[in-house]
Amino acid sequence: MPDGMNVDYDGLIPNNVDLNADARVRKALETWHPGYIDWWKDMGPEGFQESLVYLRTAISVDPKGWAKFDYVKMPDYKWGILLAPAVPDRRIGFGQHKGEPAWQEVPGEYRAMLRRLLVIQGDTEPASVEQQRHLGKTAPSLYDMRNLFQVNVEEGRHLWAMVYLLQKYFGKDGREEAEELLRRRSGHQDTPRMLGAFNEATPDWLSFFMFTFFTDRDGKMQLEALAQSGFDPLSRTCRFMLTEEAHHMFVGETGVQRVIERTCQAMKENGIADPHDIDRVRALGVIDLPTVQKKVNLHFSLTLDLFGNEVSTNAANAYNSGLKGRYREDKLEDDHRLLDSTYPVLRCVDGQVVKEEVAALSALNMRLRDDYVVDCQGGIGRWNKAIEKAGINFRLALLNVAFNRRIGEFSKVHADPDGRVLDAGTWAAKRDAWLPSGEDDLFITSLMRPVDAAGAYAGWIAAPKVGIDNKPGHFEYVKLHE
Ligand SMILES: [Fe+2]
Ligand SMILES: [Fe+2]
Repeated sequence: MPDGMNVDYDGLIPNNVDLNADARVRKALETWHPGYIDWWKDMGPEGFQESLVYLRTAISVDPKGWAKFDYVKMPDYKWGILLAPAVPDRRIGFGQHKGEPAWQEVPGEYRAMLRRLLVIQGDTEPASVEQQRHLGKTAPSLYDMRNLFQVNVEEGRHLWAMVYLLQKYFGKDGREEAEELLRRRSGHQDTPRMLGAFNEATPDWLSFFMFTFFTDRDGKMQLEALAQSGFDPLSRTCRFMLTEEAHHMFVGETGVQRVIERTCQAMKENGIADPHDIDRVRALGVIDLPTVQKKVNLHFSLTLDLFGNEVSTNAANAYNSGLKGRYREDKLEDDHRLLDSTYPVLRCVDGQVVKEEVAALSALNMRLRDDYVVDCQGGIGRWNKAIEKAGINFRLALLNVAFNRRIGEFSKVHADPDGRVLDAGTWAAKRDAWLPSGEDDLFITSLMRPVDAAGAYAGWIAAPKVGIDNKPGHFEYVKLHE
């Protein structure tokens, strides 16, 4: 049933790409499968492989009803290959091939570039599972534990999605890349994951919520750009991945929001009006708002690095060749070629942050990053509403993009949260006022104690407003022991 809405669910690998009729690819995937399961058991959620988790599984690509919920042991999860339905007569929407029919096979001249894009995207998916593998043990509730595991199994499926494209369209090279994706390890000295933020630790649940808010949102922006691709199988793959990705950002946004709500509530109940009265707030067993801001600063700046250099010929080439578009390219109104236009880019000139007009084609990383910052701002605004509603005088903010950068224009300077360039001594003296200090991390870690009674929540986080799949408050989202 190629291109169908429903998924062939009976075989080893659920799919809507008619794997049964494609013996070569099916064999490649079936050969890869045991290694994947080994990887999942070694590097997936530690200590919960035998638990029954109330998970959603994709059973269709119909936007109106694509998932079903049930208790599953994670290693038995049905990781499938799902592509959004084909758009009839789809055309390439941008770059030098604009208007030509979308490619159903890899264009020879772009093979290397396309393979690189798939591998970089694919590498992030297992990386985040590895980063989050210890968190189950300190989950603040069964609800949160279930959400963590849902994100984890779907990142696993996203790895499958990229591996399918590599194996179907890149032959032997693709099979080798698929093996490599299982070999690299987040944070490993010799075989690290490809991108910096995916080698950082995710040591506690506030980090996890920040990661799903900020870093999964980078994932969303990259998938949006690849969903525009002239290579149709990639576009269809990414369009379906975006359906799942929305839940990951929901977990992040509502997670941070619940931390904020709980803090504000505890402050009010105990008559603390000053959010900077950190010792008294912490004595209540909740996370003070200035520390929440420091976590925002850390995860925002780490994630900005994922967009790469502000001015980039790789980005220009990927666009010009029709492989990677802009965010919502199909909704933009211009010539979709960008040969004659410019785009404002923040640059570091003589130690100052200045705006410069740059050829639009080479500024595409910057543009995607700008769209990302706007997308982040929405969540920050909703968090601030919660603080305001509680009557507490504090506002969270996204700081200047020059702050704490390792990649791009600002990697060579130290900048304060407003983008003013500092000397190394001043930065070192101020660092702990802006980024989580060792002491802050210790305090957060001290709160991370597991709560595993159904319907109960750790004292530092509020209960969610609604359950998953409309389940009631006392629902047992994870059955730890059968
Ligand atoms: Fe993903
Ligand atoms: Fe994700």
